[in-house]
Amino acid sequence: MTILDDTKHLSYVEFPLPGAGATPLGLRQCNDTLDHGTTVWDSAKALAQHLHALPGGLRGMRCIELGAGCGLVGLTAGACGASQVHLTDLPSVVKSVLEPNLKRNLTNLKERNHGVDLSVDALDWLNAPCLPVPLEEEPDRPFDLIFAADCVYERSLLEPLVDLMTRLAGPRTVAYVAFERRDSMVCDRFVDLCRSKSWDARPIPKRQLKNLRLENDEVEIWKIRCS
Ligand SMILES: C[S@@+](CC[C@H](N)C(=O)[O-])C[C@H]1O[C@@H](n2cnc3c(N)ncnc32)[C@H](O)[C@@H]1O
Repeated sequence: MTILDDTKHLSYVEFPLPGAGATPLGLRQCNDTLDHGTTVWDSAKALAQHLHALPGGLRGMRCIELGAGCGLVGLTAGACGASQVHLTDLPSVVKSVLEPNLKRNLTNLKERNHGVDLSVDALDWLNAPCLPVPLEEEPDRPFDLIFAADCVYERSLLEPLVDLMTRLAGPRTVAYVAFERRDSMVCDRFVDLCRSKSWDARPIPKRQLKNLRLENDEVEIWKIRCS
């Protein structure tokens, strides 16, 4: 079994974490909702694998995940040394899967990464003037890392997403955005919007993704320097 085997039909999936004998992340999916976020998508699996492989891990990084869904990427960041991770999504997704999945994995993550601060908040890109409380309280402390997995699929959401990334980013913020190239016009438009902000947006080379044993050729991971 590889990490990209189809798991969408399962109600509970385990994802390995780096390290011999490491307790895996256990994530609940809710397949009976109409929300996209209640399933773990291949882009999230790919980005989580990429985080496992980053040299030096994410030690001390302050991170936010947008459209976190079941939480695989943000929880993986917590397991890979990040000091703070805010996982965010629409309220219905927070309630049905994101918050329960954080609770389910909290002890495991705290045992791996003492002192990690993990939190879940509702954050709607279309209503971004209302940032979650922890973000409003620290407006001058930009995030080191922004994650978004499979959030580039609907043209009308692209500008709100990029505008929100602009608000959350500081001079040294890097965003990792993973998506499936289902519609090239939508994907290219997202990259154009990032470049229109003079951000350096580059895809992780396919040969590097091959090392992660990804089996979905449509998945791309973009590293975007938001400055
Ligand atoms: C295809 S799912 C991806 C979920 C997860 N990141 C993954 O890859 O498994 C897209 C996510 O974007 C979220 N989303 C869509 N529109 C949003 C909005 N306006 N504000 C916040 N999140 C939104 C959805 O709730 C969903 O969790």
